[in-house]
Amino acid sequence: MKHLINKAKKTLLGNRRRGYTLPTNNKLYPAQWNWDSGFIALGYSYFNLNFALKEINTLLDGQWKDGMVPHILFHDTNTNYYPNYTAWNCGNKIHSSGITQPPILATILKEILDKNKINKSQLLNIKKIIKKIKKYHEWFIKFRDPKKTGLVSILHPWESGYDNSPIWDDPMEKVKIEKNLKYKRADNKVINPDHRPHNIDYDRYVTIKNNLRSIKYNPKKAYKSSFFNVVDVGFNSIFLKANKDLVYLLDKFNLDKSKINKYIKLTKNNFLKLYDKRKKTFFSKDLKNKKKIYIPSITNYFLLFADFDDDKINRKLIKDLKKHNYKDKYFFSSIKPNHKSFEEKRYWRGPVWINCNWFIYKGLKNKDNLLSKKVKKKTIQIIEKKGFHEYYSCKNGQPMGANNFSWTAALYLDLKLNKN
Ligand code: GLC
Repeated sequence: MKHLINKAKKTLLGNRRRGYTLPTNNKLYPAQWNWDSGFIALGYSYFNLNFALKEINTLLDGQWKDGMVPHILFHDTNTNYYPNYTAWNCGNKIHSSGITQPPILATILKEILDKNKINKSQLLNIKKIIKKIKKYHEWFIKFRDPKKTGLVSILHPWESGYDNSPIWDDPMEKVKIEKNLKYKRADNKVINPDHRPHNIDYDRYVTIKNNLRSIKYNPKKAYKSSFFNVVDVGFNSIFLKANKDLVYLLDKFNLDKSKINKYIKLTKNNFLKLYDKRKKTFFSKDLKNKKKIYIPSITNYFLLFADFDDDKINRKLIKDLKKHNYKDKYFFSSIKPNHKSFEEKRYWRGPVWINCNWFIYKGLKNKDNLLSKKVKKKTIQIIEKKGFHEYYSCKNGQPMGANNFSWTAALYLDLKLNKN
């Protein structure tokens, strides 16, 4: 499938603008997104290391003074996207959103370093990047875990990257929609609305955002007063893995790693507080409403990716993973199909997402090699059959959302070309 490798590269290049890459080339996402750029950088690293580093650098150019890296950077202000830069009304040097997304940069950078020859000027550049990533992680530790629990909160569903996952249904139901809310969604004009979040979800997304804007995104105040505050299993798994990878990078560049190491220890000691021993399952915690959230989401298996040091838990996760949607033609569905919240075609409520498969494939490699190979094969298969789409039905592979989707193309390159 050599031509598909070339096509993947062309997809990334086609979506590339000045120093950053759009998630897709249709009008759905006309800006730079945080974790998309991480995956995209990994894709570039297979054929243009400078583009890979540039992608990360541009994202970090939008880093706030306190360390936060926004989930969206609006380089181009002339678009139909909502919420656009005026609706957020914030940013440092570059107009941005006022919330963040899963921090995968340390992990991506480690992947890139592990398999590339780096020249001197690139090394200097990378050292600067690492310092900025460290500042980003310290921001999480300080402002998203002020009680020092070892687990960080997200303050908006969009911060998870899995926007309308059923994990957020209960906490979202408690959010009282702002009166006289006026705005115009653009996403459901571009894509079939049945495959997108409902209007009522959007009303709440905008309400939470407006509240954060009213306190000028002050991170201390936001933690206390956001209408949404959840400690999520998947998000914390990604952060744990990223912290481990950051320590590796800091070590390599002789930078101080004590603070991050300390936090990793705290996380390890406390992660199993999200495990229900009776139900034998993980749950996310709605801190705002003091409720536990039990949803059979594929993101709960991201703990495999974090390389959690507990064989028993890992074995249990693998056992359950094998039952997640084993009767379907394609895996992994974002939500277990027998759960009442599952919807085959609605965004993060059922479809297969390539980045989720990628996390799980990576996580399985040193734990169940056979299964990891199977996940890789099936993931490649769906892309080769259907193309670089945003998400797919687990029942018949129907491609949905955007086409020419950057992270699907980028991760395809990693799945095909990574020799490790
Ligand atoms: C959607 C996805 C999010 C992604 C963004 C751009 O908001 O839920 O994960 O980063 O689109 O692709």
